[in-house]
Amino acid sequence: MGKILIVGGTKGIGGEIAQLLENKECILFSREAYSVTSNNHVHYQLDVSDGNFPDIEDISSIVYCPGTINLKPFRSLKVEDFQNDFDVNFLGAVKVIQHYQRILSKAENASIILFSTVAVKQGMNFHASIASAKGAVEGLTKSLAAEFAGKIRVNCIAPSLTDTPLAQGILRNEDAIKRSNERHPSKRINTASDVAKTAEFLLQNNNITGQIIHVDGGMSTLKV
Ligand SMILES: NC(=O)c1ccc[n+]([C@@H]2O[C@H](COP(=O)([O-])OP(=O)(O)OC[C@H]3O[C@@H](n4cnc5c(N)ncnc54)[C@H](OP(=O)(O)O)[C@@H]3O)[C@@H](O)[C@H]2O)c1
Repeated sequence: MGKILIVGGTKGIGGEIAQLLENKECILFSREAYSVTSNNHVHYQLDVSDGNFPDIEDISSIVYCPGTINLKPFRSLKVEDFQNDFDVNFLGAVKVIQHYQRILSKAENASIILFSTVAVKQGMNFHASIASAKGAVEGLTKSLAAEFAGKIRVNCIAPSLTDTPLAQGILRNEDAIKRSNERHPSKRINTASDVAKTAEFLLQNNNITGQIIHVDGGMSTLKV
């Protein structure tokens, strides 16, 4: 099995995926300096927006984790907000996939995992910018799954609120956490582990491709 590239494998959901894969060869990218916790892992400090990626031979999977939570009423959103959300969530993934596509397509059971949000399937106040960017990610998932069918599986995980550094502005106190838990049919938000285990499953040898997997405590489909 080739190396697993986890873009954003140092904290949050990506950090949890890296921990689950401590025995596998993984390459981690992030903007901040980071000391790997497994002898099987190698870290590169870079910003995907720059589009400068190291040469890596033998990649079998790409997991692309960078994301944003920029929630504002539509009238307060500037074009720059839409552009930044699109750059980080969508174009960064495009750049990474294009850079490593040739190497990835040589691997056995190659796969790509992208991240969306529950706010694409269920319309939510103040999510216009992030839901638009993640809608593009879901479109990319299905298009690439078709184009790469038989060579590279492409799937997307759409979580609801997940306890990670990215969400700390929303989960700012006990009251906010309680309200967020209550909004879920399951009565709890995600742990990073809930989502990471789904990614680990999708990486395994299976016949799943072109899917948007909703890890959201039932939020996108249930009314209870
Ligand atoms: N947390 C939630 O509530 C939630 C809900 C729905 C969807 N999601 C989606 O799930 C995915 C993972 O979210 P998360 O909460 O785990 O995010 P997180 O806590 O912010 O972690 C993101 C990871 O990506 C790295 N990263 C961010 N920007 C980067 C860049 N430009 N270049 C290289 N590395 C970069 C970060 O490291 P550095 O900061 O050091 O670069 C970090 O390792 C995202 O796509 C997010 O949109 C999350």
